[in-house]
Amino acid sequence: MAYINDNYQKLPGSYLFSEIAKRIKTYQTQNPAAKIIRLGIGDVTQPLPKVCIDAMKHAVDEMGDVKTFRGYGPEQGYEFLREKIADYNYKQRGINVEADEIFISDGSKCDCGNIQEIFGLNNKIAIADPVYPVYLDTNVMAGRTGDLQADGHFEGVVYLPCTAENNFAPAIPNEHVDMIYLCSPNNPTGTTISKSDLKRWVDYAKANDAIILYDAAYAAYITEDDVPRSIYEVEGARDCAIEFRSFSKTAGFTGTRCGYVVIPRELTGKNKNGDDVPLKNLWLRRQTTKFNGTAYIVQRGAEAIYSEDGQNQVHGLVNYYMENAKIIRDGLKDIGLTAYGGVNAPYIWLQTPKDMPSWTFFDKLLNEANVVGTPGAGFGPCGEGYFRLTAFGDRSNTIEAMERIKMQLQL
Ligand code: MLT
Repeated sequence: MAYINDNYQKLPGSYLFSEIAKRIKTYQTQNPAAKIIRLGIGDVTQPLPKVCIDAMKHAVDEMGDVKTFRGYGPEQGYEFLREKIADYNYKQRGINVEADEIFISDGSKCDCGNIQEIFGLNNKIAIADPVYPVYLDTNVMAGRTGDLQADGHFEGVVYLPCTAENNFAPAIPNEHVDMIYLCSPNNPTGTTISKSDLKRWVDYAKANDAIILYDAAYAAYITEDDVPRSIYEVEGARDCAIEFRSFSKTAGFTGTRCGYVVIPRELTGKNKNGDDVPLKNLWLRRQTTKFNGTAYIVQRGAEAIYSEDGQNQVHGLVNYYMENAKIIRDGLKDIGLTAYGGVNAPYIWLQTPKDMPSWTFFDKLLNEANVVGTPGAGFGPCGEGYFRLTAFGDRSNTIEAMERIKMQLQL
């Protein structure tokens, strides 16, 4: 008899974006002629920057020559990439992060989901509501929560409601927690945490011996100067924070897969004897056991964005999507809808018209406008009454989607 991990059965039937994909497929099968525009999952549509393509082609050639062929790479990632990340994303911004504190991976989703493995099951977690489902679901799978309650919250989790009233900024809990998930620029609300608020979080974490798991996958989309790109811009963060970054949204790598985690060397957690254990060592142990590194070709592609041409091309890509964000925001405003985000993030978080439940709004847009978005309720109970649109579509589809939405909702 093989018993299952019962924690999996605490979770609702399917992962949010799988449920959406299922509904689209059903609709498309019943309506084969419908031209569906997908602004649901945050998946990019524009080609990779030319510098990445050239670097990857060159790496393919290297793999085809016995003199330059490479087998397994270092589990932590190639030094050539870690050095460039440390330089461009941290040192050049006056932030102290060294290459040996960076761990290259096949993307932030895996990192955000896997990181909880190095922490004890007795830790109390705090997460925003609404939230990127990966943080919560992976903790449920691990058994760090109780059952799903009638209010849509899991027992044993400290939820941090993010609503229009608090400007979608999670408030510091008035109880002790051990692990805090923060995401800025935020998925799904598109809002950001200011430097002064982030400093309050760092102070709370240090006072509570807690760890902040800081997801900065959308950092490249920040346009305003006073928004921190990295939690390590805040004094004291090296003692209490792990940071996640990604090439997916920065350089169009959603299908190519590359991300990284930063774990400062002084960051520790307690073992059962109360001793301080460096988290970096635990993560290295985890990665060397369960991961054989990101493909060499992909790491060469990622490295290529750290050059003058590379930075220009990446900015071009980000600007393209941010122009879409403006088109969506302006379009929603034109029809009197309230929308947030889209200024420092590629997500627009809108209030559904007439307080319509978000899955009802999803079905309405799919059926009547053939446009797909993401229902806010899928990100947590506080997401009810909201709907997320992504700016990652291509330009003509984004314009057409807004025309269709305007037509449907103005009637
Ligand atoms: C989303 O739509 O929220 C994104 O696809 C998240 C992700 O990158 O996994």
